[in-house]
Amino acid sequence: MINVAIVGASGYTGLELIKILINHPKFNITYIANSEGGVNVTDLHPSLDGVLDMDVQKANANEISKVADLAFLALPHKASMGFAKQLLALEIKVVDLSADYRLQLDTYEKHYCPHEDKENLKHSVYGLPEFYNGLIPHAKLVANPGCYPTATLLALVPFVPYIDPKSNIFIDAKSGVSGAGKKLSETTHFVNVNENIFAYNPFGHRHAPEIEEKILELTDIKANINFVPHLIPVNRGMLVSIYATLEDVCDAKQVLKDFYADDKFVRIKDEPVTIKDTSGTNYCDIFVEQNGNSIFISSSIDNLLRGASTQAVVNANLMCEYEEDLGISKIAYVP
Ligand SMILES: NC(=O)c1ccc[n+]([C@@H]2O[C@H](COP(=O)([O-])OP(=O)(O)OC[C@H]3O[C@@H](n4cnc5c(N)ncnc54)[C@H](OP(=O)(O)O)[C@@H]3O)[C@@H](O)[C@H]2O)c1
Repeated sequence: MINVAIVGASGYTGLELIKILINHPKFNITYIANSEGGVNVTDLHPSLDGVLDMDVQKANANEISKVADLAFLALPHKASMGFAKQLLALEIKVVDLSADYRLQLDTYEKHYCPHEDKENLKHSVYGLPEFYNGLIPHAKLVANPGCYPTATLLALVPFVPYIDPKSNIFIDAKSGVSGAGKKLSETTHFVNVNENIFAYNPFGHRHAPEIEEKILELTDIKANINFVPHLIPVNRGMLVSIYATLEDVCDAKQVLKDFYADDKFVRIKDEPVTIKDTSGTNYCDIFVEQNGNSIFISSSIDNLLRGASTQAVVNANLMCEYEEDLGISKIAYVP
C-alpha cells in the first residue's frame, strides 16, 4: 500500500479524489487538508457520512511527509506551487491538479503570474497519459492537464499532421458549471446559469496557450488555434467540437483507431458523442466526420474526472508502477 495525502479536500476535485481513493486497492488516504482544517471530513462533505471518518488538517507539508509518500494537490494555481516545492524537498511525489507546472516558464508567466518554483517546473511531466506515458513513471512531479486541454488535445493531436497549416482551427468547447470550482461568483450563480448558455473569454482563455504549447511539443507544428469556451447548465461534463480544414486526405476514423489502438481510456464512437456517456468515468469519447476537406471532431469527458481527478489517479498509478486503470471507475452515470 502507498499512503497518500489530498490537499484541497474541500473542493470539487478534492471530493472526487476522496471518492476514488477510498476504493483504490493500493492507495491509502492518510491525510486530508484544506486551508483551515479543524473539522471532520463529513462536515465538509455530508455525503461521506458513514463512509469516511477522518479529521481534516490545516495543510502542512512537514506533517504530510510523516504520513504519506505521494500528495494530490487540488489547489488553485499559485497556492499549489508554494506547497509542491516544500513537498518535493521532503521527497514526497506530487500530482498537481492546478496549472502551476503545466506550461513553459514564459508561457506561464505571460498568462498566470510570476513563477515561484522554477527549478521543479523544469522537471515536471505533463500528465496526459496517452502522450506522455513514457515519462510519467519516472516523474516526481506530474502536472495534471486542464480539463479543456485534455478533451481538445485527445481529439485534435492525431489530426494535426493532416490539417492545412495555413488554415484556422476552431475549438468550440462547453463545460458544466463544476469546472469553475466551488467558489461562488455572479457568472456561476444559479439564476445566471440555469436555462442559459454563453461563451466566456473567447480567444482569451488560459487553456488556449496550454493547448497550443502541447500541440507544438507533440507534433512540432504550430497550429492556428481559435478557442472559445462556453458554460452550460449542467453540473459536470465537457463537450469539445473542433472544426478544421484538411490539407491531406485521410480516412479520419481509421486515423483515430490506429492512433489509440493501445489506449484503454479513449473510445472511438460511430455516432456523435454525449457528455452523459463519459460522466462518472475516465473515458474520453471521440467522434469524427468528414465533408470533403472539412473535418469535424468532437470529444466528451467528465471535467471533474478525466479532466481532473481520475486522470490524477491514473498518473499516480503510473508513477507507482501500477496498472494505469487500477481503481478507476469505467461505469458512466447513466441515466
Ligand atoms: N473543477 C474542475 O473541473 C477542474 C478541472 C481540471 C483542473 N482543475 C483545477 O484543479 C484545482 C482545484 O479545482 P477545484 O475545482 O476542486 O477547486 P475548488 O472547488 O475551488 O477547491 C479549491 C480547494 O483548494 C483549497 N485551498 C485554496 N487555497 C488553499 C491554501 N492556500 N492552502 C490549502 N488549501 C487551499 C480550498 O480549501 P478551502 O475550502 O479551505 O478554501 C479548496 O479545498 C484548480 O487549480 C483547478 O483549476 C479543476
